[in-house]
Amino acid sequence: MPYRRTTLSKFIIEDQRRTATPEPGLTSLLNDIQTACKLIAVAASRGAVAVVGGVQTQVNVQGEQQKPLDVIANDIMVGTCEWGGQLAGMVSEEMDQPYDIPALYPRGRYLLVFDPLDGSSNIDVNMPVGTIFSVLRCPEGVSEPTLEDFLQPGTAQVAAGYAIYGPTAMMVLTLGAGVHGFTLDPEIGAFTLTHPGMTIPTETREFAVNVSNERFWEPPVRRYVDECIEGAAGPRGADFNMRWIASMVAEVHRILVRGGLFMYPRDTKDITKPGRLRLMYEANPMAMIMEQAGGAASTGRRRILEIAPEGIHQRVPVILGSRTEVERLVRYHAEYDAGTDAPFTTPLFNARSLFRTA
Ligand code: F6P
Repeated sequence: MPYRRTTLSKFIIEDQRRTATPEPGLTSLLNDIQTACKLIAVAASRGAVAVVGGVQTQVNVQGEQQKPLDVIANDIMVGTCEWGGQLAGMVSEEMDQPYDIPALYPRGRYLLVFDPLDGSSNIDVNMPVGTIFSVLRCPEGVSEPTLEDFLQPGTAQVAAGYAIYGPTAMMVLTLGAGVHGFTLDPEIGAFTLTHPGMTIPTETREFAVNVSNERFWEPPVRRYVDECIEGAAGPRGADFNMRWIASMVAEVHRILVRGGLFMYPRDTKDITKPGRLRLMYEANPMAMIMEQAGGAASTGRRRILEIAPEGIHQRVPVILGSRTEVERLVRYHAEYDAGTDAPFTTPLFNARSLFRTA
C-alpha cells in the first residue's frame, strides 16, 4: 500500500521526533533540498540542456533560451532553498563566492554547501550524474555569514547526502546516525525508503580509479593498484575487478550497495592542485556517508572529516570505501613516508622481481 510507505519527509520528521537533540528547521530545509533534487531529476531526464527563462547562455534552432544543465541545477538548488527561512548562506561548486540569502527572505541557522550536478560531463553520454550536499550550522550570532564562517571541518556537518539521477532517481542521506536510501516513486512523486541502514562490506575485491593518471601517482597508490592488478598470483592472493564511471556520486553509490574502493588520489599532473575533488561539497559529505555506513575516508595521510578547510573550493586527495581497503592504503602511505616500503620500491624485491616471495 503506497500510503504505508515511509516517504523521505516522514522519515525526517520521525527521526527528529526520536532524537534527543532535534535540529529546529532541519526538517524544513531537507524538504526543500529533496524538492530541488526532484526538479533536477526531471531536468536531467530531459538531456544536456533544458529550456528555461533567465540567463541566456545558448540559443537553440527555435530561438529558445537554453542553459547547460549544471547551471540549471544550480539555479534550482538556490531558488528552492533560499526562501524557506532556514539558511543563512550557501556555497556552490558553480559560484565563486558564497551566496547571500536575499534580504526579502528570513535568515536561518544553517549553511548549505553543494555540488548541484556532479559528474556533469556524463550528461552528454547519458550516464548517471548527481547532486551532493552538506549542511553545516551557521556560527552562533551570525546572520550574514562571511566566507570564513563556511570553513568548518567535515566533523561539524549536521547532515550530508546525495541524489543520483540514474535509471531511477535516489536520494541517500545521513543525519549522523546511519545512512538511508530513498527511491523516487514517479507515481506519487515522492522519495520512499527502500534502502534502510545501508552498510558497506568491510572487505572488497573491486576498485575504482582513473588509471590513465598512473604516471602521476605517488608510489603507495601505484603499489596498491599494481597489487590489485596482479590478482590471485600477486600479494593480495585474489582477483580484483575495476570500475570507472567518472561520476563520484555513481561510484559512491555502487560502493554503498556492494562495497569497493574509490579514489582520486594526490597526483603530480598539476602541482598547484593537491587533488581533483573538492573538500567541502564532494569529499566531506561523501566521507560522512562512508563513515556512517561503516566505511572509511582518508586522503591517504589523514581522515578527511578532520581537515580544517582553507578555502571553500579547496581540493583534496580522496580515498574512500570499504574500511580494510582504505586502511591498507593509509598503511602504504605511512610505510612510504617512513621509507619502510623497501620490498615494494627496491627493484630486487618489488612486484615484478624474480626474487619476490610474497
Ligand atoms: O569532480 C567531478 C568528477 O566528475 C567526479 O564526479 C569524478 O569522480 C571525476 O570528476 C572524474 O574525473 P576524470 O575526468 O578524471 O575521470
